[in-house]
Amino acid sequence: MALVTMRQLLDEAAAGGYGVGAFNVNNMEQIQAVMEAARETNSPAIVQASRGARTYTNDRFLIHLMQAATEVYPEIPVALHQDHGNSPETCFSAIEIGFTSVMMDGSLLADGKTPADYEYNVRVTREVVERAHAVGVTVEGELGTLGGVEDGHGSGIVELTDPAQAVDFVERTGVDALAVAVGTSHGAYKFTRPPDAEVLAMELIEDIHERLPETHLVMHGSSSVPRDLVDKINRYGGRIRETWGVPVEEIQRGIRHGVRKVNVDTDARLAMTSAVREVLAEDPEEFDPRKYLTPARASMQAMYAERMRQFGQAGHAGDYEPKSLDDMRELYASGAATRA
Ligand code: G3H
Ligand code: 13P
Ligand code: ZN
Repeated sequence: MALVTMRQLLDEAAAGGYGVGAFNVNNMEQIQAVMEAARETNSPAIVQASRGARTYTNDRFLIHLMQAATEVYPEIPVALHQDHGNSPETCFSAIEIGFTSVMMDGSLLADGKTPADYEYNVRVTREVVERAHAVGVTVEGELGTLGGVEDGHGSGIVELTDPAQAVDFVERTGVDALAVAVGTSHGAYKFTRPPDAEVLAMELIEDIHERLPETHLVMHGSSSVPRDLVDKINRYGGRIRETWGVPVEEIQRGIRHGVRKVNVDTDARLAMTSAVREVLAEDPEEFDPRKYLTPARASMQAMYAERMRQFGQAGHAGDYEPKSLDDMRELYASGAATRA
């Protein structure tokens, strides 16, 4: 099966009332672990690559690894998504090499750090939507900036998504999916205590979903930072400070209110690192990378499979016929896939 578009995966998820994990990858083992977990749970899959991941892997390696994934796992509908595109050019280069979905993160300027003004965000996102939809590719936009409500982690400036502005943004840009800022942040250090409504504004998602029932909502910074993985890293010489992630029940609550894409990167980093540390600590004489990368891959697979079950995507890989980019292009051109 060729790579499918994220729009189709999320439309199906909305129809079925479930969410789809979007997992960041940087190497072959991560891609294999996502695909094995998808096979194990019979799930559709979203694989995403940040700009850093594209540089680390090299675009050509990444795209060929993903083509291999579609050949080895023909029964799994899988989308390849650009995570946090910092500029239209980043999104266009992703489309050119074969990504079927892109995120234009115009909530920040092209440096990926400075919060942008609203009109800039609308302009760059609209520009990407026009070019992407013309070739059938999905677009995710972002409104509001991530970061802990509590400690301002991230860009340092926290701006939760304004629901009224979200309606205007979707209307003016035509995005397929909207990332909302509800108090989560990237990385392991999200909350300094178990998150409650004061720091994790899940009710915002309910409000936005009521106003935009047709728009697929995206939760970034959705790693749960499992205590057992943190403890294992620390047991074998690591130094991860006390921290809390996003409880899976809160994500499930989001999924009941329009969240269709759930971004997870950190949990895979923790899964991989904990397994590598264990092998090397238990047997300091070991130096065959396969001896630590095999358990690392298995550890990530277990985490991905657990999330796929928890998000509800398990069991849905074979529900539908994949649409091609040409099919999607025609749907956009006819207005049938237009939002808002
Ligand atoms: O958006 C953040 C993701 O976790 C990707 O992180 O830019 O270090 O690859 P990265
Ligand atoms: P985590 O750091 O919580 O895994 O978030 C990943 C993410 O949002 C990628 O865009
Ligand atoms: Zn993100």
